[in-house]
Amino acid sequence: MFSRSHVVALVRAAAGLTAVLTTPAIAVERPPRPNVDALPVSVNSTREQLMLGDRIFHGEAARGTCFQCHGWDGKGTATGNDLTNGSLNWGESFAQIKATILNNMKLAPGQDGDLTPADVDAVTAYVWALVHQERMENQVAR
Ligand code: HEC
Repeated sequence: MFSRSHVVALVRAAAGLTAVLTTPAIAVERPPRPNVDALPVSVNSTREQLMLGDRIFHGEAARGTCFQCHGWDGKGTATGNDLTNGSLNWGESFAQIKATILNNMKLAPGQDGDLTPADVDAVTAYVWALVHQERMENQVAR
């Protein structure tokens, strides 16, 4: 015989199944994309470069694939580190970030997409902005 708790469990299971069946399949969970308009612009780049870098990072230009490993929000995944927490292993200056990206491209040719030198400058501007956003908000960075 079904006890009262069995019935409750069955009703709960049915409700859960209904929720699963009525949730649209296209609802892919993605963390929020940083608002590029609010990001700081390095003295080494222009806002246009920053905006191109945002598109490259998210796979909308130069076949960039950065977001696949570093996350849609830049906060990292199992296959790429967080670029938003204010410090990087290989240095946070514009020149250091650019050198790291160029070095990565040398180590894994083609894996970062089809980046021209201008694209590298643009995506460097974007990563620099991700790294420095927190400090700019706190008004302690130059
Ligand atoms: C296939 C996965 C993958 C892709 C695609 C990828 N990265 Fe990375 N990236 C990594 C991993 C793993 C590291 C950490 C290894 C290291 O620090 O050398 C890293 C390191 C970095 C670093 C240095 C982080 C630090 O702490 O110093 C930067 C900057 C960076 N990636 C930017 C990019 C950009 C920009 C793109 C796209 C053009 C990109 N990555 C594409 C996996 C990836």
